[in-house]
Amino acid sequence: MKIKQYRTQFIKELSPFYDAYEAESFFYLILEDKHRLRQIDLALNHELNFSEKDFVVWDSFLNQLKKEVPIQYLLGKTSFYGLDFEVNENVLIPRPETEELVEWIINENKKIDKSKEIKILDIGTGSGCIAISLAKNLPNAKVYAIDVSKKALDTAKRNAINNKVDVTFMLKNILELEILKSDYDIIVSNPPYVRNLEKAEIKKNVLDFEPHLALFVDDNDALVFYRKIAELAEKNLLENGKLYFEINQYLGKEMTDLLEKMNFKNIELRKDIYDNDRMIKGNI
Ligand SMILES: C[S@@+](CC[C@H](N)C(=O)[O-])C[C@H]1O[C@@H](n2cnc3c(N)ncnc32)[C@H](O)[C@@H]1O
Repeated sequence: MKIKQYRTQFIKELSPFYDAYEAESFFYLILEDKHRLRQIDLALNHELNFSEKDFVVWDSFLNQLKKEVPIQYLLGKTSFYGLDFEVNENVLIPRPETEELVEWIINENKKIDKSKEIKILDIGTGSGCIAISLAKNLPNAKVYAIDVSKKALDTAKRNAINNKVDVTFMLKNILELEILKSDYDIIVSNPPYVRNLEKAEIKKNVLDFEPHLALFVDDNDALVFYRKIAELAEKNLLENGKLYFEINQYLGKEMTDLLEKMNFKNIELRKDIYDNDRMIKGNI
């Protein structure tokens, strides 16, 4: 069958699950990944064909997409802050909102005296997307990262190697730490923050396939990670050290109150491109 013909069939079969634009974008992502062909190649050569073997692969993609498995897991990769990251069912798929947090940290800290090392700790690193992007873009940064999941850390380690940066990864449960082993200029975290009461808003592709360890917190103590990390930051941030968090969009006020009560200074709450409260910063 000609690839162009198959494209029409592919989009039609996915129509109960995705709009045509999204289904088409999946088609081209798979085409590029599996056949090294781009949209323009198809436009220039209407006669391109799939072999019988190709159909087996495409049908498997189609079946998984119908189950709403995220395309990033099917391809085993995604892009974050201009870098390629391996992703799998053990790590959260990095979000564009998190790129905004990374951008904020880079912009605020790139002008620091280049001869001075900046020690950064990323808590709940997952795929390593925050830690690795900071290491890549802040040349004087020495980056450390913690996660409680060994499988997530294994993925993050491969991502650091593939992106040619040096990050020190540590397997730790942050909720069990009373103090960190060293002091840092910057502590950043995008910890689990989705409450069970928000599950109804979560799409099936997230709920069924992304790791719940990375997403959910108890409704009765939604800020458990933030409180713990802020307490550790009080003890382990160096002079003028900064704490950055990605936050639950509904808890901007609660997060501001928490940092104020703990006497953090220069607290700044920021919105993401969708106009939701999404990140906060405070200085020690
Ligand atoms: C929301 S994900 C963030 C992943 C990644 N930093 C990102 O921004 O895409 C939260 C991460 O925290 C980790 N985590 C959950 N509980 C933890 C704990 N008690 N101690 C350390 N890490 C934890 C999860 O394994 C997950 O990788």
